[in-house]
Amino acid sequence: MIRLDQLLSRYGYCSRREAASWVNAGAVTGINGLPFRRPDEKVDPATVLVEGHPVPFPGGITVAFHKPAGYACSHNPAETPLIYDLLPPEWMQRHPAPETVGRLDRETSGLILLSDDGDFLHRWTAPRHEVPKVYEATVDTDFPLGLVELFASGTLMLRSEDRPCRPAILKITGSRTATLQITEGKYHQVRRMFASQGCTVKALHRTRAGSVDLGKLPSGEWRKLTAQERD
Ligand code: URA
Repeated sequence: MIRLDQLLSRYGYCSRREAASWVNAGAVTGINGLPFRRPDEKVDPATVLVEGHPVPFPGGITVAFHKPAGYACSHNPAETPLIYDLLPPEWMQRHPAPETVGRLDRETSGLILLSDDGDFLHRWTAPRHEVPKVYEATVDTDFPLGLVELFASGTLMLRSEDRPCRPAILKITGSRTATLQITEGKYHQVRRMFASQGCTVKALHRTRAGSVDLGKLPSGEWRKLTAQERD
């Protein structure tokens, strides 16, 4: 339950100060069509209509998005194009607005999660949770011998890091293609792991994070996570 004035500002309709005039004007009703009269009234967002329409995502926004290559996971207009340019603009009016769970490099495509749920964001980003992430990589040269064992060993030290990479699962799928599963998110980690062994990553695509699979979600589109996937 949430106060009506909080609801109107949290879901991006107006400021908390403006909320009283929205309520006084009869713009906010129950599903029975009867207007609420007091901005401090407590309501369940799923049972409210604003200007006749249900509140979108009354339980919050937690989605999987298929990021195309070329878009930055950033709010900085200097870095356009941004992934947020491909998402409904009204999401960014909400307080809090959904944020990405970690980031993908501009040139990486594939699965990125977004959520406005602080607990979810914490669970999926805290290093101790070790959420596995799976990437498909294409490199510029044949893989050196022993790469699977090296990545699995937990001893690979990347330059300017103070700890080795955690054991990672490399599956070689072609002479220059592989999938790599890692459970951490050091800066440019996948590209740096391959580069440390003489392979430049030409294309990188994330297919999976924890229990969430990108599946056939088309590039540039999003879908809600199921309750099972959120857990
Ligand atoms: N590792 C990288 O190098 N880039 C990404 O975008 C994600 C993981």
